Amino acid sequence: MTARLMLAVGGAVLGSLQFGYNTGVINAPQKVIEDFYNRTWLYRYEEPISPATLTTLWSLSVAIFSVGGMIGSFSVGLFVNRFGRRNSMLMSNILAFVSAVLMGFSKMAFSFEMLILGRFIIGLYSGLTTGFVPMYVGEVSPTALRGALGTFHQLGIVLGILIAQVFGLDLIMGNDSLWPLLLGFIFVPALLQCIILPFAPESPRFLLINRNEENKAKSVLKKLRGTTDVSSDLQEMKEESRQMMREKKVTIMELFRSPMYRQPILIAIVLQLSQQLSGINAVFYYSTSIFEKSGVEQPVYATIGSGVVNTAFTVVSLFVVERAGRRTLHLIGLAGMAGCAILMTIALTLLDQMPWMSYLSIVAIFGFVAFFEIGPGPIPWFIVAELFSQGPRPAAFAVAGLSNWTSNFIVGMGFQYIAVPETKGRTFDEIASGFRQSGGGQSDKTPDEFHSLGADSQV
Ligand code: GLC
Repeated sequence: MTARLMLAVGGAVLGSLQFGYNTGVINAPQKVIEDFYNRTWLYRYEEPISPATLTTLWSLSVAIFSVGGMIGSFSVGLFVNRFGRRNSMLMSNILAFVSAVLMGFSKMAFSFEMLILGRFIIGLYSGLTTGFVPMYVGEVSPTALRGALGTFHQLGIVLGILIAQVFGLDLIMGNDSLWPLLLGFIFVPALLQCIILPFAPESPRFLLINRNEENKAKSVLKKLRGTTDVSSDLQEMKEESRQMMREKKVTIMELFRSPMYRQPILIAIVLQLSQQLSGINAVFYYSTSIFEKSGVEQPVYATIGSGVVNTAFTVVSLFVVERAGRRTLHLIGLAGMAGCAILMTIALTLLDQMPWMSYLSIVAIFGFVAFFEIGPGPIPWFIVAELFSQGPRPAAFAVAGLSNWTSNFIVGMGFQYIAVPETKGRTFDEIASGFRQSGGGQSDKTPDEFHSLGADSQV
């Protein structure tokens, strides 16, 4: 591990941190921002927002991030071969700056549209990041460290989530006056990345294979590896380059048509789907309200607890991934998550009779997160760089990224709607009116409560 390699990986994963921050940031301050939506609505239309509209607006604010992610991740190929890996990362920060301004000033402008647009734009950035970073890190790393360094992308993500959770505490920035700063804070990692990345080298593989600049590639390799003899690395890249000359440019369609790529691309897609459809982001987007409904007294601290467990187990994965192997860790992780999901169901079912079940639900969620980070969290991201060579790699990242973000969107948008209502002990009329009020979504506020909320505020 050389200083240059650390700088390259560190600068890159600031992008992952940005992605994680924006995944976790809307969790704790849900209530204060919803109040802002309500006040804005009241101010504009002179009536309180209906719970159904609020649920829709909030789910949209959460999930439009993944729509941006879908588009961003699918566009990775447009940038990486034209501008290079490092410069693509650098350029994408324009999106982060624009988004910071939109979200940071949305309250001042009485505009939830600005917040939603800002979420979309930082989603674009994050989608690009999920291609750029694992690709760059995979291409600068020596083979023996590729898995461990690949896991740094995930480490950046989980640290970002944790920072957002802590900043989102009421006493820090998750309150009515400071939440715009909480969302606008993304300016800081963007600026840091703009300062650090110019000192990081371009990917030697890109220089040699895509640009045919052997001397540059060689000098970058020497710095990255900290040795003057880089002939074996260079030899391997040249071999890959020769093979690439023989293939035509690999398009997305070709990935599915060619027997050589079909199996790896299916593996990449299934791994991405298993990561997202496990429901992990129901935790990172909504855990505060999940914990609240499970009777936990300090839900925000339980949310932070999940972030700490998340980070700790990513570090565990970092150390075992080169030893235990990708396949085993992924399977153990998924099986463990399934077990914890069953535990959670039991805890919620028995909550009425046994209030201490709320503790079991915390254990279940922490376990769920821990198993996730053992394998299904980090592996799907870096495995795409491992499964494909330089030619098909950008197209493969686009397909894998799109699968990931599409399923991320489904969970983010759908979760609030599929939370099943309790029917026990309620009349048909009560149940039906519950649906009428919430439009199928979950909201625990009545229009009256909203009205008083609005009337109290000074708009
Ligand atoms: C993975 C997922 C991301 C999730 C995170 C949680 O990086 O891709 O969607 O939020 O793990 O740690």
